[in-house]
Amino acid sequence: MDCRLDGRVALITGGSAGLGRAMGATFAAAGARVALLARREERLAATVAEIARETEAEVRGYAADVCDAGQVEAAFAGVLRDFGRVEVLVNNAGVARTAAFLEISDADWQADIDLKLFAAIRLCRLALPGMQERRWGRIINVLNTPAKAPRAGSAPTSVTRAAGLALTKVLSKEGAAHNVLVNGLCTGFIESEQWVRRNAEVAPEQGHREFLAAMAAELRLPLGRLGTAQEFANVACFLASDAGSYISGAAINVDGGLCAVV
Ligand SMILES: NC(=O)c1ccc[n+]([C@@H]2O[C@H](COP(=O)([O-])OP(=O)(O)OC[C@H]3O[C@@H](n4cnc5c(N)ncnc54)[C@H](OP(=O)(O)O)[C@@H]3O)[C@@H](O)[C@H]2O)c1
Repeated sequence: MDCRLDGRVALITGGSAGLGRAMGATFAAAGARVALLARREERLAATVAEIARETEAEVRGYAADVCDAGQVEAAFAGVLRDFGRVEVLVNNAGVARTAAFLEISDADWQADIDLKLFAAIRLCRLALPGMQERRWGRIINVLNTPAKAPRAGSAPTSVTRAAGLALTKVLSKEGAAHNVLVNGLCTGFIESEQWVRRNAEVAPEQGHREFLAAMAAELRLPLGRLGTAQEFANVACFLASDAGSYISGAAINVDGGLCAVV
């Protein structure tokens, strides 16, 4: 099986850290030309330099907040200027946001929708015309398993992600006639920068391996551990490559068997 992405131009939002960084590095190692988008310029520049050094691929960074329509448009125009096209779009930028329903304000709902849904809507609108014209495109929406199996206290994220599932399905139906494949990846618990931050916030005395092991035990993760960002990126790379050419409209759990819903 060939999971190469030679010459493909991939744009990954939230590309400077965690799962986005791993996808950027994996796509670049598979031959893609990679555009990473995130807010913190310094962190983004460091990640771009690391991946370019590791893979010798063409990697560029675009500083933008995906919640800001103007910044997204400017970043997308920059990618087109530098690379000429976007063939693979990964909507990945996001942060965990959950609380008991009665504690969630309108502002919190709106912020979650802007970050996780509207950002993807806007970027798909920008990327789709070129993909359709070239009759080749891949869109991967990073979602989570509570989109399929919401728990108490999982809003607003689970609700926003469920809308992302519907968006994925709609776009897969509309994209199919143009050979644009659209899929979702439903994330379970995967090692990333967000867990490093959580470790520092809630258990600063604990080493990170110890923190992750305690988390895996508390959450009863079936495989006894969190997934790695590389394991997540492997699935994304498969979907982005020609090897994934008959999968569209799917929402694949990358959760080590945690979610009860397939
Ligand atoms: N890891 C998990 O266990 C897990 C579980 C469920 C869902 N997810 C989802 O998977 C995705 C990746 O998560 P992760 O764990 O890799 O997170 P992470 O380690 O915190 O990395 C998040 C990335 O997104 C960027 N980002 C955040 N807000 C942004 C914004 N408004 N505009 C542009 N970029 C933004 C961050 O850079 P800047 O801060 O510099 O912008 C960073 O590059 C997210 O959508 C998350 O909700 C992850």
